[in-house]
Amino acid sequence: MKHSSVAPGTCASCHNGTTATGKNSSHISTTASCDTCHKTTAWTPATMSHSSVAAGTCNTCHNGTTATGKNSTHVSTTSSCDTCHKTTAWTPATMSHTGVAAGTCNTCHNGTTATGKNSTHVSTTSSCDTCHKTTAWTPATFSHSSVATGTCNTCHNGTTATGKNSTHVSTTSSCDTCHKTTAWTPATFSHSSVATGTCNTCHNGTTATGKPSNHIPEAQLGGSMGCDACHTSTTSWSTIKMNHNGSSGNGIGWCKACHEKGTSYLGNMEKKSLNHEAEGGKVPTDCSMSGCHRPLGTVGSSYSAWD
Ligand code: HEC
Ligand code: HEC
Ligand code: HEC
Ligand code: HEC
Ligand code: HEC
Ligand code: HEC
Ligand code: HEC
Ligand code: HEC
Ligand code: HEC
Ligand code: HEC
Ligand code: HEC
Repeated sequence: MKHSSVAPGTCASCHNGTTATGKNSSHISTTASCDTCHKTTAWTPATMSHSSVAAGTCNTCHNGTTATGKNSTHVSTTSSCDTCHKTTAWTPATMSHTGVAAGTCNTCHNGTTATGKNSTHVSTTSSCDTCHKTTAWTPATFSHSSVATGTCNTCHNGTTATGKNSTHVSTTSSCDTCHKTTAWTPATFSHSSVATGTCNTCHNGTTATGKPSNHIPEAQLGGSMGCDACHTSTTSWSTIKMNHNGSSGNGIGWCKACHEKGTSYLGNMEKKSLNHEAEGGKVPTDCSMSGCHRPLGTVGSSYSAWD
């Protein structure tokens, strides 16, 4: 058979399976002229032309038998190939998430089939769409819905998620002892795990409320004490049990620093002028002066009365 005088597009007039060789039963489904894909010299190789292929019909051929199909590691989908592929080449593919069911992201986004979580990703087994949209990985919206009470610190360590800053109150307790998941402020401070005698580590005026400037001067009591040596409540500073510590007056610390009339420190201490009962014109140098007031009880215990 000499094809030299055959006009393009007329092949099927002979190649119909009767006059001359036609398409066999497994031939790709097409009504286009044989020469869209075939030369006259041989049936193979054929150059596939997609020009007359209708959108959305790709899967009729691309099933792995008639024409190239999806390989075993292909993203799981039943959509038509052209949802993501062009006819000119399989790559690059434009992933289309249309038709992807909510909550199924992890079936693909496992780091093999499609982008997965990197090693510094927040620790979670939830479906990506709990926090991510399909359009971009950032910004992510963190959802705390599946976070268990007391597990906050596993993420909020300053690496995986926001951690405590350097001026944060010193604590190893779980963030939710004091914080809600919606915002860091306001925080509710819980004193439940605070150890006796450690109040000063926070109550220094920076980390937490400190002593006001008109607070009684501890130096006059023979040394510094924990706030809880006198303050018996963690909800109000005005509940106190006065502790005179090592105070013995007369220069080791002065009783008059607080008890002399005219002093204006906070507190309900009794105040008198030093000469309120001056004997024989002798003005004492301090309340504790021998013959006047002696501390009751042992040094370190509370004075309870003016002796
Ligand atoms: C006038 C009828 C006629 C037309 C039109 C025609 N052919 Fe053919 N062709 C034949 C015949 C007859 C044969 C040989 C017998 C067979 O293969 O059935 C043949 C053989 C072939 C072969 C096999 C060649 C080989 O050596 O194995 C190819 C390929 C082919 N034709 C392609 C085409 C293409 C492409 C067109 C359109 C451009 C076309 N033919 C148009 C009649 C025709
Ligand atoms: C849209 C493209 C396209 C059209 C149009 C087309 N074919 Fe094909 N045909 C193919 C492809 C692709 C193959 C498979 C080639 C291969 O296996 O390498 C094929 C295979 C064949 C084969 C088997 C070749 C072999 O030895 O395995 C025959 C015969 C054949 N076509 C005949 C025809 C005839 C006759 C027509 C027109 C009536 C036609 N084809 C139209 C694409 C087409
Ligand atoms: C009528 C059958 C048929 C249909 C429908 C069809 N294709 Fe094809 N396609 C083929 C054949 C045959 C080849 C070449 C052999 C192969 O790759 O299996 C091919 C090749 C391809 C290639 C590889 C191109 C290359 O040069 O590497 C891509 C990509 C492709 N098709 C995409 C599509 C898309 C997208 C659709 C839907 C819009 C589609 N095809 C519809 C039959 C078809
Ligand atoms: C929901 C989108 C989507 C659909 C639908 C889809 N694919 Fe893919 N396909 C992809 C993605 C994404 C890749 C990976 C591309 C890459 O590695 O850059 C891919 C890769 C491929 C590859 C491998 C390309 C390579 O060389 O690595 C083939 C072949 C392929 N797809 C065929 C198909 C066929 C056939 C269909 C239809 C039956 C189909 N795909 C449907 C998204 C899709
Ligand atoms: C069928 C597999 C599959 C499913 C299911 C899937 N994706 Fe994808 N996704 C891909 C592929 C493939 C890409 C492109 C290549 C890659 O990023 O690995 C992609 C890309 C993305 C991108 C990057 C977009 C861009 O342009 O940068 C985001 C974000 C994304 N997917 C989120 C999701 C979310 C959220 C879900 C669940 C609702 C989801 N994906 C479900 C396969 C899937
Ligand atoms: C519980 C919420 C949550 C879940 C579930 C989640 N992520 Fe994320 N992801 C985040 C947050 C928060 C970021 C940080 C975003 C930022 O830096 O703005 C992030 C960042 C990422 C990034 C890096 C973005 C970038 O460019 O820096 C990728 C990639 C990513 N996630 C993928 C995934 C994949 C894949 C899944 C599902 C298998 C997933 N994520 C599940 C919250 C989540
Ligand atoms: C699986 C990791 C993870 C766990 C567990 C976790 N978070 Fe988060 N959290 C995040 C991520 C990621 C963000 C957003 C990015 C950031 O702030 O670093 C966030 C944000 C926050 C925010 C800021 C909210 C805003 O909109 O400003 C607060 C408050 C918060 N978390 C409190 C908590 C508390 C309380 C717990 C414990 C009940 C907790 N988180 C447990 C990962 C986690
Ligand atoms: C014992 C209680 C307590 C615990 C436990 C705690 N915090 Fe706080 N946090 C506070 C208090 C009180 C503030 C000061 C709130 C204010 O300024 O209103 C604060 C402030 C913060 C702030 C600054 C808020 C701002 O915008 O000024 C961040 C961030 C913060 N905490 C993170 C954390 C993280 C992360 C954890 C867990 C690892 C944690 N906190 C555990 C009590 C606590
Ligand atoms: C880990 C830090 C920390 C320790 C230790 C601590 N507190 Fe607090 N405390 C706070 C924070 C934070 C608040 C609330 C906000 C503030 O005062 O700055 C608070 C509030 C208070 C309040 C309520 C009045 C106020 O200032 O808001 C009292 C009273 C109090 N603490 C007493 C104590 C006593 C007594 C101790 C020792 C037994 C103690 N605290 C130990 C951090 C601490
Ligand atoms: C030696 C006992 C003592 C010690 C130790 C002590 N306080 Fe006080 N504090 C008092 C007395 C007494 C008052 C006055 C109470 C009143 O108004 O009735 C007071 C008042 C306060 C007030 C003001 C209360 C108000 O109602 O205005 C604050 C705040 C306070 N103290 C904080 C502290 C802090 C913080 C510490 C530890 C760093 C501390 N105090 C240690 C005895 C003490
Ligand atoms: C740093 C200040 C300060 C110093 C120094 C001090 N006191 Fe007091 N004292 C107080 C406060 C405050 C109270 C009252 C506590 C209260 O409100 O219940 C008090 C109470 C007393 C009481 C109980 C009666 C009363 O006034 O409520 C006696 C007795 C007493 N002091 C004796 C002494 C003696 C003696 C000295 C010296 C050895 C001394 N104090 C040193 C602050 C001080």
